[in-house]
Amino acid sequence: MATQPILIQTIKHPPSSIQGVGRRPDAKNYNSSTIAVDRIESLQKYQNDLKANQMNTNKKLRWGILGAARINERLMPAIIEAENAQLVAIASRRPGAAAQTLAQYAPQQQQVRTYDTLEALLDDPEIDAVYLPLANHQHAEWTLRAIEQGKHVLCEKPMALTVADIDAIEAAARWHKVSVMEGFMYRFHPQHARVRELIDSGIIGEVRSVRSSFSFMMRPARIYRLAESVENGGGAMWDIGCYAIHSARMFFDEAPVAVTAIAKYIDSGADAATSGIIDFGDGKYAHFDFSFERARRCEYEIIGTQGGIKCHNVWSMPGDVPVISWWTEDGGNVEERLSPANHFCLEIEHFSDCILNGNAPALTLNDAKANCQIIVAALQSAASGQRIKLV
Ligand SMILES: NC(=O)c1ccc[n+]([C@@H]2O[C@H](COP(=O)([O-])OP(=O)(O)OC[C@H]3O[C@@H](n4cnc5c(N)ncnc54)[C@H](OP(=O)(O)O)[C@@H]3O)[C@@H](O)[C@H]2O)c1
Repeated sequence: MATQPILIQTIKHPPSSIQGVGRRPDAKNYNSSTIAVDRIESLQKYQNDLKANQMNTNKKLRWGILGAARINERLMPAIIEAENAQLVAIASRRPGAAAQTLAQYAPQQQQVRTYDTLEALLDDPEIDAVYLPLANHQHAEWTLRAIEQGKHVLCEKPMALTVADIDAIEAAARWHKVSVMEGFMYRFHPQHARVRELIDSGIIGEVRSVRSSFSFMMRPARIYRLAESVENGGGAMWDIGCYAIHSARMFFDEAPVAVTAIAKYIDSGADAATSGIIDFGDGKYAHFDFSFERARRCEYEIIGTQGGIKCHNVWSMPGDVPVISWWTEDGGNVEERLSPANHFCLEIEHFSDCILNGNAPALTLNDAKANCQIIVAALQSAASGQRIKLV
């Protein structure tokens, strides 16, 4: 991906332009320019470091894709675009499906090998890392099989349906000396680093609450995503709830103490809509809600002791202009528009860079376990009507 400078357009609104924000008569004008400049510098430094590392090694990580999944529409172009990655092969268990997916999503890449078994791809010695977009309940098994073949693994979220499975993945990865990361691509979009920077600047005070909301109306063609019960990885929790929980968690330093959730289930045992609260202690709560039966939202909002920040489009697509808005009790009221970025490509470049340069991936297996622990507890709470203690 081109490492062009990140530009930020900062728009100071009249205070009434963001709903619910009033302006006190004694309110000060807030000047955000210093923060914006810091932000540009830190992003440029990261991108320059990445570029320098790539130039040092001048190597590309050789990727294989395990599964002819729909999400390859995003990932195949991302691997091709990434400066330090090379797409070597794709495999499917359905004869001809790998070739069809290649023709559909990367028609110019006829040199890419196609396999009609997943095992054949794992046996390919010219593949360093695999991207794994199989169905949720198959992630742990095939991550382990890839590790045993000495492959590094970028596994789609959720990495596994139990913490015990992630423990097994961690032990196997350590034994075979490979890296494994859960594919929360959204985290590689610079807009979240910007939110973190705003929080660290102290502008909204101490973080007390986060609300993360993800929903869309499930199209009939995708109803199969609700065909499996939550025990088998089906439903909204494993599909989009994992984003809501992951994004809500990132702003709390404390370990969660309990989870409470409610859900609507359908006949298959999948949840179609779930809401809940993660209790981080001392009155600090993360509220999550997600649904396949509501209009599209993919946003989070952080409320501190002195103001709030909202990220308006967490699933930002390449070309989308990301928007972050924030307000403060003393009358600050700002909307920032960042440059578009492709978080799928940034995720591939990050993981490739880690492997090529011997660094640990930004999303750790402990993070994957922490997310899984909350998901499992939330499902338990929704099923039992109980508050589930985590400590
Ligand atoms: N990061 C994101 O933005 C994002 C978005 C959506 C989904 N995901 C995640 O990515 C993973 C894949 O999701 P998806 O929606 O792309 O999955 P999908 O299209 O349902 O494919 C999942 C797997 O099922 C098999 N498959 C595909 N089409 C099939 C068909 N018509 N009949 C039978 N089997 C078929 C494929 O394996 P074979 O080729 O081996 O048969 C494929 O790898 C999931 O874990 C999901 O949570 C991530």
